[in-house]
Amino acid sequence: MCGIVGALAQRNVNEILLEGLRRLEYRGYDSAGVCLLDGDSQLQLRKSQGKVADLESRLVADPAIGRLGIAHTRWATHGAPSDGNAHPHRSEHIALVHNGIIENHQPLRVDLQARGYQFDSDTDTEVVVHLIHSLAAEGHSLVEAVTTAIGQLDGAYALGVISADEPGTLVCARSGSPLVVGVGIEENFIASDPMALRQVTDRFIFLEEGDVAEITAAGIAIRDRSGKEVSRPVHKLDGGHDAADKGRYRHYMQKEIFEQPEVAAATLAGRIGAKSVLAEALGTRANELLPQVKQVQIVACGTSYHAGLVTRYWLEDWAGVPCSVEVASEIRYRKTAVRPGTLFVTISQSGETADTLAALRQAKELGYLASLAICNVPNSSLVRESEMSLMTQAGPEIGVASTKAFTTQLVALQLFCIALARANGLSAEREAELVGALHQLPELMEQFTGLDKLVKATSEAFAEKHHALFLGRGVEYPIALEGALKLKEISYIHAEAYPAGELKHGPLALVDADMPVIAIAPNDELLEKLKSNLQEVRARGGELFVFTSPKAGFASEPGITVVEVPDAPESLAPILYTVPLQLLSYHVALLKGTDVDQPRNLAKSVTVE
Ligand code: G6P
Repeated sequence: MCGIVGALAQRNVNEILLEGLRRLEYRGYDSAGVCLLDGDSQLQLRKSQGKVADLESRLVADPAIGRLGIAHTRWATHGAPSDGNAHPHRSEHIALVHNGIIENHQPLRVDLQARGYQFDSDTDTEVVVHLIHSLAAEGHSLVEAVTTAIGQLDGAYALGVISADEPGTLVCARSGSPLVVGVGIEENFIASDPMALRQVTDRFIFLEEGDVAEITAAGIAIRDRSGKEVSRPVHKLDGGHDAADKGRYRHYMQKEIFEQPEVAAATLAGRIGAKSVLAEALGTRANELLPQVKQVQIVACGTSYHAGLVTRYWLEDWAGVPCSVEVASEIRYRKTAVRPGTLFVTISQSGETADTLAALRQAKELGYLASLAICNVPNSSLVRESEMSLMTQAGPEIGVASTKAFTTQLVALQLFCIALARANGLSAEREAELVGALHQLPELMEQFTGLDKLVKATSEAFAEKHHALFLGRGVEYPIALEGALKLKEISYIHAEAYPAGELKHGPLALVDADMPVIAIAPNDELLEKLKSNLQEVRARGGELFVFTSPKAGFASEPGITVVEVPDAPESLAPILYTVPLQLLSYHVALLKGTDVDQPRNLAKSVTVE
């Protein structure tokens, strides 16, 4: 949800900022801008509606250079995507980039207008730059002006600010939106995500909520929300995956789908023995707490929420522990009743999703036993603020539609469920069976990604459709939800998912030859029930696409297309059946010519509520 980058160096930082923006484009891509300052010259501001590539073209026609600069890629909240609403915003000699939402922008705007400030944009952000300008005009240094200004802001922000009056200073601040300082040799940087700066440094300071940092040639001075000078640790991040490289793939999403065997193996590595989940998999604290867990509350958003829904089936079945799952934007705004012994579990790829973070912060006041984050980003706010974490090893995920993050969440969650079940009397034989299945997962994932050609052929039936219905029963129902979400996200086909048993309570009225119905039909104990539901579809002329195992007894015939997938252990079915559904949405999107990695109106890291 908007990406910001800043740099202060002894060289022209234009290309560093642009590369940072390219790497942050997953956070928003409706407009972009850069502001550079060289020596004591004027601010050079270049902005463009559209993607970072459009800004680059503008910079070719109208170059800018500087040793100090800030840049931004936007996901519009206040004000339509346009050149004028793009960041950086400027107030005479001061320029600013912002990620977040300023909730009290309206009264601040009225006040600043009364004091003679003119507004050029419809954004909430512009009030901040004028506010800082007004404070600087009273004689404050840039860092003082920023510190005083943020004291007047309600809402969430990560800010990067420069001033032509202080060409050797880059000031930044964070509260509610992520921000890191990249530490170089005689040059320093800021960004919303370390990935934006991996080409220039591997050392990072993760700013805490309320921090303000002043970056100069002399170093990095950080003050906490009380104004006290503080020292924050510098983390050295290892090489990891080069997420910015698509390799031999056409899209990041495609690359990320095919990485799933490898990242599933990485998520299991060092966490399972031959027959059991290792005690160290969840850490000492978890081992002490698990026997005390009487109930589990899972909170997440989007695809991560679907991972939570799958978990409920596993947890209640294997551990006999009651589990509730709720989207973060709902639970945070209602009165909840918390039973003693309830573990609060968040699931998030980014660890920065505003609603999930807010729900966690609130949970701390509500008497939960403890908090556990299932997350893909080690130094994210969610991980830092949770008492325990279990990391997925998906590596950076760039495609806005989540793929490998989801399946690695399911892998990590399965480890959690087995560990909690063991604390609740799961037999050694059953644990050995579940863990034995997990050992087969990477190889089976490889076989499921091998369905690519078959799924591609199937996708042709969807290219001209406007609607689709996904059906599943039991643990495959959340997988149907995820399949429908993928299709709508990247191909813009309206898709819904239902538990197959609900069909007759309404959605059957929609079924005709123009409504393809996708069924997820592994060979499990609900198969016969599902088959009856599918008969109801056929009887109404609905066209069926059945993703199923060879043992389930389906055969293609007019009106029924069977996509046969390899036979697999039941406990892995939700993870594995996700893969052909990802491939389906990918190939349908290709046929429709949509922007697979950056679908319209969306962004990957949702740091605003
Ligand atoms: C956005 C992304 C989704 C993601 C959701 C939650 O909507 O496009 O892919 O599932 O946010 O994000 P999180 O990082 O918390 O998993």
